[in-house]
Amino acid sequence: MAKDITTPFPVSGYRGPELFCNREEEVNTVTNAIKSGRNITLFSIRRMGKTSLIRHFFHLLGTEKNRLTLYVDIMPTFNLKGFTNQLATAIVQSFPENTSFGKKIWGWIKGLRPQISFDPYNGLPQLSFEIGQVGEQKATIKNLLQFMDQSGKKTVIAIDEFQQITRYPETETEAWLRSEIQQLQNVNFIFSGSQKHLLLEMFNSTKRPFYSSTQMLQVGGIGKEHYAPFIAHHFKVGNKSIKEDGIDFILEWCRLHTFYVQTLCNRIYASQEKNISINTVQLIIKRILTENEAVYFTFRELLTGPQWSLLIAIAKEGRVYTPTAGAFIQKNLLGTPATVKRSLDSLMDKEMIFRESSASGNYYQVYDLFLSRWLEYKQ
Ligand SMILES: Nc1ncnc2c1ncn2[C@@H]1O[C@H](COP(=O)(O)OP(=O)(O)OP(=O)(O)O)[C@@H](O)[C@H]1O
Ligand SMILES: [Mg+2]
Repeated sequence: MAKDITTPFPVSGYRGPELFCNREEEVNTVTNAIKSGRNITLFSIRRMGKTSLIRHFFHLLGTEKNRLTLYVDIMPTFNLKGFTNQLATAIVQSFPENTSFGKKIWGWIKGLRPQISFDPYNGLPQLSFEIGQVGEQKATIKNLLQFMDQSGKKTVIAIDEFQQITRYPETETEAWLRSEIQQLQNVNFIFSGSQKHLLLEMFNSTKRPFYSSTQMLQVGGIGKEHYAPFIAHHFKVGNKSIKEDGIDFILEWCRLHTFYVQTLCNRIYASQEKNISINTVQLIIKRILTENEAVYFTFRELLTGPQWSLLIAIAKEGRVYTPTAGAFIQKNLLGTPATVKRSLDSLMDKEMIFRESSASGNYYQVYDLFLSRWLEYKQ
């Protein structure tokens, strides 16, 4: 069997500062907020690098003795019970029983008689409480947060995919959590999420409990001036040659969308090719798109004719500012503005497209870059 190829372009998780590109400005913003006692909310479309930014920030903060950090991903939770389990699990995983803080917190948690299982892949403990009553769940969360507050150290808790709490059936979760958070003296929060409309609604609407309660930070793509030298450096270290125009091509083709840049570089690096030309890059792109084709065909089955046509039209255009404008509709044979509007809403709901603002106004773009490029070439 061929040897494993360790590439310097991971496509999941955080692998330390050496393989993490730039984000200096974002780190400074987060650092300044947290060190001044302000909570901060990170938002962006998916796969831009929010979670990695949090991990990187925690890595940098980890060198400070008087700080604790806790990362909780609430994506898999659907109610307050899920939140309780996820928070408790994150705490016991971050503070093992053989640390002094871990010993204290484990002692208390065990008194609640949780079911403890161990993740078959990484061996880490997973907790689940059989608490039926919402009141008891809230009391448990309150206690866990207070434990963190009274740890004797400044603590930062990151709650990833925070918009998920808006989907919990327990009404008033937002208001209750906001008031609990406000009572903590030594804990600051980083909230993060990819569902921009839900998050912005939570933090920017005067009617909502979290209104104006945090600083907001939109995480955009990594600038070409940082990403190009980073890519060049790692190819060089791996004894591979790639010219500037090759790197420019990758960044432009991937529209500086972090996950796609990483995936393409990962595949190019792993291809064993020593001299990488634009041709090599194009060959690998073709391979990736062909591999994904079966999935793209199922998308076509799942969408209506007008939705599929609109998706293709947006892909071909790249960015579409006014999809209901006559010229765009006629050029792409999309029917009436009302049909386009309906398809647009539906594609937004399905997260097949996203809407983003720019200096030239709001535009629509196909969410998945690889799908977008495939539609552009194929249809
Ligand atoms: N600064 C960076 N340098 C190198 N790779 C990065 C960087 N930031 C993110 N990545 C890589 O990009 C991919 C997406 O990053 P990440 O998962 O952090 O995005 P996200 O915004 O949290 O996505 P989602 O909204 O889907 O949770 C990952 O594969 C990660 O390894
Ligand atoms: Mg994430």
